[in-house]
Amino acid sequence: MTLQKIPLRIEPIDIAARYHHIRSVPQQPNFAARIEGLDLTRPIGDAVRRELYQALLDFEVLFFPPQQITPEQHVALAGVFGEIAPGAFFPRKDGHPDVEVIEFNAQRPPEINIWHSDLTWLPEPPNGTVIQITELPAQGGNTAWASLSKAFAALSPGLQTYLEGLSATHTWEISGWRDALEKYAGVDALADALRKYKPVSRPVVRVHPESGRKVLFVNENFTKHIDGVHFRESRGLLEFLREWIVQPEFTYQHKWEPNGLAVWDNRTTQHYALTDYWPHRRVTQRVTFNAFGSAPTTQSTRAAVVADARAGAITA
Ligand SMILES: [Fe+2]
Repeated sequence: MTLQKIPLRIEPIDIAARYHHIRSVPQQPNFAARIEGLDLTRPIGDAVRRELYQALLDFEVLFFPPQQITPEQHVALAGVFGEIAPGAFFPRKDGHPDVEVIEFNAQRPPEINIWHSDLTWLPEPPNGTVIQITELPAQGGNTAWASLSKAFAALSPGLQTYLEGLSATHTWEISGWRDALEKYAGVDALADALRKYKPVSRPVVRVHPESGRKVLFVNENFTKHIDGVHFRESRGLLEFLREWIVQPEFTYQHKWEPNGLAVWDNRTTQHYALTDYWPHRRVTQRVTFNAFGSAPTTQSTRAAVVADARAGAITA
């Protein structure tokens, strides 16, 4: 037997047959597409909305060229892909509680340079996020995405079957949020969070409800252990999967331009924000969305999350 080095065979989507209203330019086979020629300062028509939605299913991460858009237009773009979600625990843009502002600078070192899907420790993690980079350092500050569907598809059938029978526990407690909460908000806030946000168990292999793609839904930031197996088996499997997921064939690293935008499907990707620019300043704004048909975010839900954000908690 020879050493197997070809991990995955991919048939590219027939873009010309599928798309008539937007121009999708994948950067890798069926992954990370640039959407060209779309003016986001104008209302987005129904036909374009449908194709953008399909493009996110097909390519998992989309990029839009730099544009000056208002916070309302940012929220409107997120609304193409789902219900606006409360988001995570970053500060909010003044007067726009749906828009989180993520700023790192000399005083606040960047700390999201770890592969993850967002908020997988929640019972219902968000479907995705629309992000715009508003201040870019002179060099560096790229973001990388990994395709969890490619990572699953490339595994051997035996391992796929084994993993499909497993679940894993996710918790923010193993992420940087725990230390940040204690440092910025104190032990009482930490104790409150421990009571409020309990670990969740979810399948290791998730089936995307719309595309049908199977994905490896474990990540280094929030997945604590595989359920019901010896801790050494869990540790070894998670380490293998962590390394497997971030192979170059499954990842794309995006070089930003100021005011460029991206949207990712949080169900099929992980991301990693490089911190090579520190101590320089990098600012992004983002709006998170849930599935269409899920409960709209209420004022009280948003207020609770914003209050947690104010407590100084930082996590992604
Ligand atoms: Fe994130």
